[in-house]
Amino acid sequence: MNIFAIESSCDETSASVVKDGKHILSNVIASQDDLHGPFGGVVPELASRRHIEIIDKVAAEALKSASMTWDNIDLLAVTQGPGLVGSLIIGISFIQGVSYRYNIPVAGINHLEAHLTAGLIGKTDVQLPVLGLIVSGGHTMLIKMDDMRHYAKIGTTLDDAVGEAFDKVAMMMGLGYPGGPRISALAQSGNPKFVKFPQGLIRSPSFDFSFSGVKTAVLYHLKSEDHPMPEKRKADIAASFQYCAVSVLVKKTMRAAECFKINTITAGGGVSRNPLLREQLKYYCDKYGYRLILSDPELCTDNAAMIAALAYHYQDKAVYAKNTALDPMPNMVLI
Ligand code: KG4
Ligand code: ZN
Repeated sequence: MNIFAIESSCDETSASVVKDGKHILSNVIASQDDLHGPFGGVVPELASRRHIEIIDKVAAEALKSASMTWDNIDLLAVTQGPGLVGSLIIGISFIQGVSYRYNIPVAGINHLEAHLTAGLIGKTDVQLPVLGLIVSGGHTMLIKMDDMRHYAKIGTTLDDAVGEAFDKVAMMMGLGYPGGPRISALAQSGNPKFVKFPQGLIRSPSFDFSFSGVKTAVLYHLKSEDHPMPEKRKADIAASFQYCAVSVLVKKTMRAAECFKINTITAGGGVSRNPLLREQLKYYCDKYGYRLILSDPELCTDNAAMIAALAYHYQDKAVYAKNTALDPMPNMVLI
């Protein structure tokens, strides 16, 4: 079964062809970082306009590099939510056009569920249940996966998402957008113990997170420094913030694994590209004997391959655009 998917929920336009839910034949990702960078964050109206401009080209490239035409596609898929409504509409309208023209059914997919399951693509020997850590620009969640489509929420952020905290701290430090990769690059030459920032809710027995405290602590710390700051000092602050954010994610994940007796752990979403998070998860999973499943870095951030792969498990929900319209769901929840 060849599945073609579009992901356009935020500021990446992506198209992919995945065979049988596990073989990624193409995964084209057009980033809009250049467009939003000068504004310090995603400008929704500009994002939708860029999606309109390039979606045809991205889709054609994904088909071509998979050596396919629309006639070879058995199922279409698209991110239905959550995301920016204008951006979602572009992807959904495009895919519905294809569904109408070529008479192919289309499945609407939850973006968060796709992040949760991206690490499992192509893995046939995964023992359930799986503990999933979703860490993106808009969400921070711990999920117990009992099976595909059967999830329980263990914890969530009470305020900022961890990716949002990375982006805001980067902004306060004048590093620009997107902040996560810039903080992690700068942190490489810094001392993670330079400032001890507060690890939100670390003493709480719950599996919820809070990242607004560390963000404020970084702001006050920056005010106490002399400006302009030497590069080394900036690196120390970036490293200290990253260490704080990653530590709390890893500690809560390990505690949840122990509490719910789950031996397999996965992580998805943009922040799971972070080298320190990947390294720390690996260190503690090895230490406690858990299996860690992480996807390749390009499957952590927004991409259509994760949408196509997940759609394999939602064939029963697919509809024909000529009969049923898919509505964008900007606030779509996972559970
Ligand atoms: O999953 P994603 O691409 O989009 C959303 O669904 O939100 O995640 C984007 C987030 C941004 O906040 C970005 O700063 C963060 O992922 N991110 C990182 C890294 N790469 C991307 N955060 C920390 N370290 C990274 N290397
Ligand atoms: Zn995402």
